[in-house]
Formats: sequence, C-alpha cells, structure tokens
Amino acid sequence: MDKQPPLIYLNNAATSWPKPPEVLAEVAACLRAPVYEAGRTTGTGTTDYPAATRAALAELFHAGPPEHFVFSANATDALNLLIHGFAKQNPSPFHVVTTELEHNSVLRPLKALEQEGRIALSIVPFRDGRVDPAVIRNSLRPETRLVVMSHGSNVLGSVQEVKPVAEYLAANDIFFIIDGAQTAGHVPVDCTDITAGAFVFTGHKALFGIPGIGGFFISDPGAVAITRQGGTGTDSRSPAQPADMPARFETGTPNYPGIASLLAGIRFIRSTGMDAIRCREMALTQQFTRLLKRTRGITLYNEAPDLPVVAFNIGGIGNDEAGFILAKAYNVITRTGLHCAPLVHERIDGGKGCIRASFSFFNTEEEVGAAATAVREVAAGADR
Ligand SMILES: Cc1ncc(COP(=O)(O)O)c(C=O)c1O
Repeated sequence: MDKQPPLIYLNNAATSWPKPPEVLAEVAACLRAPVYEAGRTTGTGTTDYPAATRAALAELFHAGPPEHFVFSANATDALNLLIHGFAKQNPSPFHVVTTELEHNSVLRPLKALEQEGRIALSIVPFRDGRVDPAVIRNSLRPETRLVVMSHGSNVLGSVQEVKPVAEYLAANDIFFIIDGAQTAGHVPVDCTDITAGAFVFTGHKALFGIPGIGGFFISDPGAVAITRQGGTGTDSRSPAQPADMPARFETGTPNYPGIASLLAGIRFIRSTGMDAIRCREMALTQQFTRLLKRTRGITLYNEAPDLPVVAFNIGGIGNDEAGFILAKAYNVITRTGLHCAPLVHERIDGGKGCIRASFSFFNTEEEVGAAATAVREVAAGADR
C-alpha cells in the first residue's frame, strides 16, 4: 500500500490544530493538581484558573472589570445565553437586526424567537464581504432593541467595522452583541468600544485553547436576564441565582481544563506577539490565494480576506467530493459545505456551499504549496 502523504490540517477556522505545547502542558498541570478557585475552595498553592484567565482576557480585550468576562461552553453557548437572556429581560415584542453573514449560532436562536412571535427580525445584506454600518443604521426602527453581528465571517474571512456601529447603537440605547468567534486572537479587539453590549469569543479557534471553552464580555450585566440557575458556591442559602458577576451567568462546575487551556493560549499569543502570528498566517493565506487565483476552474470567493480563511469551489466537481479527494488522496484536511452560514452561500454560490481552507500559525509554506498543488490537480482532473 502507498504511504500516505503527511497530514496538512487546513481546518483551523473550525478548531485550531495543533495546540501550542504550552497549552497541552497547562491542561495536564490543571488536571494533575487539585483545583483552587477563590470563593469555592479553601485551598491555595495552585493557580486559580478562572481568576487568572479572566484577568488575561481583560488585558487581551482591553475591558473590565475581569468579572464581566463570563465562561461558557463555546461561542454558541454564549450567544444563546445572551440572545435568550436579552429576550427574557425585554418581554414585550421588539425588533432585532442581524446580517446575512451570520453563523447559525446567531441565526437559529433569533429565528426561534421570531417563530415564537417574540421578535421581528431584519436580516441586512452584505456587499463584497462587508456590511455597511449605514445599512445597519437605516434598518433600525423605533422598536429596535438589539443588533447581533459577526465581527469576522467564517466563510469570506472579512472583518466587519463594528466600532461605528457600537457607537451609534450605544447612543440610541440599543444592545449590541458582537460574535467574535472568528476574530478573537486573530485581530486586536478593544472592548472599550462596546459600551452597550457584549463581545462573544470562543477558546478553541485562534485563542489556541481546547474545545469546550468560550465566553463573552458584557458591559452591563443587568441588560441580560438570568436564564440558568444552579450552584455557584456562593450565597447558597438564597433560592435565587446570585445577580452578581460572574455568578449571574456561570453556574455549575466550570470547565477548569478548558479555562487553563485558554490562559495558556492567551499567554502564547502574548509571548509570540499577535502581530507576528497574524503576519505569518496572512502570508500563508496570500501564498494560497496567489497559487489558486490563476488556476483554471477555480472560483475564489474573496481574493483578499482579512482573516486566514479562503473559500473556493472547483468547477465540474461538487465541494463535498473535492474535499473528500483532498482528504483521502492528499491528506489535506479542509471543510466543505455550508459552514453553518447558509445565507452567505445563497449569495455567493447559489446555496451549494464551498471548500474552505483555513490556516494557522503552525502551518508552513511547504504545506500551503503542497495543498495548492493538490487543489490544482483535483481541478485538472475535474476539467478533463
Ligand atoms: C462566526 C462564528 N460564530 C460562531 C461559531 C460557533 O463557535 P463555537 O463552535 O465555539 O460554538 C463559529 C464556529 O464555527 C463561527 O465561525
């Protein structure tokens, strides 16, 4: 049997791999020692991972106090907590604006609320991968209470201009949820801009953590109602969920290894430098787009992405089949299909879906060259 070529992992926008060795070591250290968390245990001597990680997040995203950073299972969990909590806080029907760039982790909670008759929903279009802040502004109504918008597209790799939107919405008392699942770790994020809203992140993508950890920063926790109750290790006589932060939104035993991985991931970004990481990832992305741009039969959906994400199709072959061949014959791992963003695909490829290659700091130029050659060979085969 032929030897399999070496694995080339280009699915980092789904979950980054490999993780830095420091992350694996911190997870192991966290699991080896008993857990200490202020307020829950009396022990000392090991890292209070939740406190240390909240402090690291506050520094990374320029926001505070650290207790306003809430841990959740992932970005989807955070978005559900925020969207449903905001709806509970505002029981009369209201209007929500979102965009065609959104992931199903935004669209589905909003659609569920729409079907229940609790909100009216407007979904605004994008052009060249971006939503014009003026389009958001023009779609607002007197009864608009919430805008939910992705910071970075997981298909087109475009980064949205959220600052002017945040400023305008804050001035008009409209809550703003930013889905930063694709940007946190890739581009600098300054949550001081988000004075009336929340910024959602996930740990397992560009922050180099393990799956099962994410969260959000919220400026005014009182804007979002409590939707989960349980043990917090505090105020245990009270039958009600504590209203203070972060217990307001965090209940049950935390994912300590996940939180430890996030801490180590942030430290890795800090010690390597976000600029250095970004520079390398974008050089690899540009190398890939350059190699594919002039290849017959290949359609690139954004030739100049802001994030290390390249979406494309190969003429004459379905994206699923092409992805299967890339994986089986070349050991090149991409992601194919709709990428949980069906409205993006309706606009760019008639709803068929595409192949997505997404790069990490740990990919190499050789891997990118080999992956591009593999794609070109599949394209040549499909063209025959
Ligand atoms: C833009 C966007 N939002 C949300 C999510 C959901 O992230 P998670 O897997 O952490 O729930 C993703 C993940 O692919 C994403 O790309």
